[in-house]
Amino acid sequence: MCGIIGYIGDRSVVPVLLYGLQRLEYRGYDSAGISVLDKDSGRIVVEKKVGKIKDLQEHLWDKKIKGCVGLGHSRWATHGEPTEVNAHPHTSHSGEFAVVHNGIIENFAKLKEELQAKGYQFKSDTDTEVIAHLFEDLYNGDILSTALEVAKRLEGAYAVGVISLKEPDKIIAIKKGSPIVIGLGKGENFLASDIPAVLEYTRDFIILDDGEVAVITKDSVDVYNLNGEKVEKKVLKVDWDTASAEKGGYKHFMQKEIHEQPKTIADTIAGFLSSIDEGLFETLKDTSRLYIIACGTSYHAGLVGKFWIEKFARIPVEVDYASEYRYRDRVIDDKTVVLGISQSGETADTRFALLDAKKEGAKTVALVNVVGSSLARESDYVLYTYCGPEIGVAATKTFTAQLTALLLLSLEAGLRKGSISPQFYQEAHKRLSDIPAKVEKILESEDFIKDLAYKYMNASDFLFLGRNLNYPIALEGALKLKEISYIHAEGYPAGEMKHGPIALIDEKLPVVCIAPRDRFYEKMVSNIQEVKARKGRIITVATDGDSDIKSLSEDTVYIPETEDYLYPILTAIPMQILSYHIASLLGKDVDQPRNLAKTVTVE
Ligand code: M6R
Repeated sequence: MCGIIGYIGDRSVVPVLLYGLQRLEYRGYDSAGISVLDKDSGRIVVEKKVGKIKDLQEHLWDKKIKGCVGLGHSRWATHGEPTEVNAHPHTSHSGEFAVVHNGIIENFAKLKEELQAKGYQFKSDTDTEVIAHLFEDLYNGDILSTALEVAKRLEGAYAVGVISLKEPDKIIAIKKGSPIVIGLGKGENFLASDIPAVLEYTRDFIILDDGEVAVITKDSVDVYNLNGEKVEKKVLKVDWDTASAEKGGYKHFMQKEIHEQPKTIADTIAGFLSSIDEGLFETLKDTSRLYIIACGTSYHAGLVGKFWIEKFARIPVEVDYASEYRYRDRVIDDKTVVLGISQSGETADTRFALLDAKKEGAKTVALVNVVGSSLARESDYVLYTYCGPEIGVAATKTFTAQLTALLLLSLEAGLRKGSISPQFYQEAHKRLSDIPAKVEKILESEDFIKDLAYKYMNASDFLFLGRNLNYPIALEGALKLKEISYIHAEGYPAGEMKHGPIALIDEKLPVVCIAPRDRFYEKMVSNIQEVKARKGRIITVATDGDSDIKSLSEDTVYIPETEDYLYPILTAIPMQILSYHIASLLGKDVDQPRNLAKTVTVE
C-alpha cells in the first residue's frame, strides 16, 4: 500500500524524495509528505499535503529546505482519514524522530495507551505515530539498539524508515511483512518500498527480509537480525531500465504497458526457457493436486492456468482467491503443490496463504514479476514474468505474461510426465512464438476500439461473456472496466447466463461476447442469439474473417486466428484497450483509480 522513500548522501534530498515518490505514487495516493534534516535550522522539517505528489511538489516550490538526509511517503489510508495531520511522516513528541511507515501496527491501541499514560500527546489518528513516540521513549543513546527494542514491541506488518536529530548521519529501516529495498550508491544510499523508485540512481540493491533492521549511512549499509547479530546480505543486480518507469510518449502508463505486450510476452517465453528448474518439474511429476492461489487479475490468470495444466500436464488443479484459501480447511499432504501468482510478489493475502500452506507441508511455487519480492523469497521454487516495472494500477502486460508463463509451465510438466508428445510440445512452442506478432496486429485496431469506447462509454452496466478458457478473460474484462472507469460490469461463463444474469439484458446493456472460432464457437453463437433475442447491444470479439458473427453483432473486434488453447492471450488485449479508452474518455484517473493501490500489503 503506502510507498516509502529515503535518501542519505550529498545530493539535495528534496528532489530525490519527490522523484521517488512519483515512482511510488501508484502504491497509494491519498496524501504525501517528506521530512528532512534541515541544515540551516538544525531541525527536522516536515511538509505534508493531501492529494497527489504534484500537490506536494507545488507546496514545496517556495520552501527553501536544505538537507541531504530525508524520508518521503505516499499514503493509502488505513487508520485515519486522508487528512494532512494523518499524512506521514510522523514525528515524536520532541520532534527529534521522524517516521514513515507502510503496513499496519496491530497493537497500536495498546501502545498508544501506554505512551499516553507517560504523557505523550498524539496529533494524528494513525497507527504509525506510536512508532515515532516509541523511538523517543526507548532511545538509549544508540539508535540501532533502540530500533531493535521498538521492533520487538510492534505487532503486525510494517516497513519503517526513521531519521533522527540524535544520530543525524543515519537512516534506520525496519522490516516485517511489508517490503523494503535499499539502493546502494557511491557515497549515497537509498531506501524505498520498491526498486523503480530509485532506479534512476542505482541498479544494486539489498532486499531486507522480515525481522531485519538496517542502519544506513552515506557510505555503509549494515543489516541486523532482531537479536542484534549482523546479517550478511547479497547484492541483487537489477537490469530493468529507467525507460520502463517512464510514460514514453503515451498518455498513461496503462496505455504504454498495453503496447509493451508483444515484447513482454516474447521476453517471458525467452526468460522462462532459459531458467528451467528441473527440481520443480520433478516435484510436479508426482504431485497429487495443485492449488493455485492469487488475487484480482492474477487470480484470473490462475483460472486460465487451470485449464492448461489439467489439459497438458494432467494434474488436478483447484484455483482459489488467496484471501479465501487461507481460511478454509484445505487438504494438504506432502504431494500437494501450491502455486501463488502475484505481479508484485507482496500481496499480503497471497503471501500469507502460501506461507500457511508451506507450514502444513505443501511445496510452494511463486509466479511473480518483481525480482526479489517477498513471495519469491518465501517459496520453494520461483517462476518469473519478464515485464519490467508495471506502474499502472490496472494489471495488463503482467496478465498476458502470467498466461504465457502458465502455458509454458503446463507444457514443460506435460512433456516430462509424458502426457503430451514431443511433437505436440514443439508445435505448441512454434504457435506460441507467433503470439507476439498477433498481439501487435490487435494493437493496430486501437483506434477502432477507441471509437467503440466512445460509443458505449455512457452505459451504466456491462456484461462480459466467454466460455471455457475465455471465461476468465470475461472476468478480467469486467474487472478492468470496473476498476478504472467505475462502470459496473459483470463477467460470466456464457452458458451460465441463462441461469440468472439474462434478466439484466435490455436494449441499453452492452454485452461483450468473446467468441473466437474455437471448439465452443457454436455454443457461444447460441448464447449470443439469446442476448440478441432480448435486444442486448452485442459487441463480439471474433476471429479474423468471421462474417457470420458480424451479422449478429452491433460491433465486432477481430483478432488473428490461432490454436484454441492460445486464444486467451489474444482475447485479453481488446478487453484492456476497450476499458482503457472508456476510462480515459470519461476523464478518469486511469493509472491511479480511486480507492485502489497497486500493491495491497494488508489483509
Ligand atoms: O500484485 P498482485 O498480482 O498480487 O496483485 C493482485 C491484485 O491486487 C491485482 O491484480 C489487482 O486486482 C489489479 N488492480 C488488477 O488490475
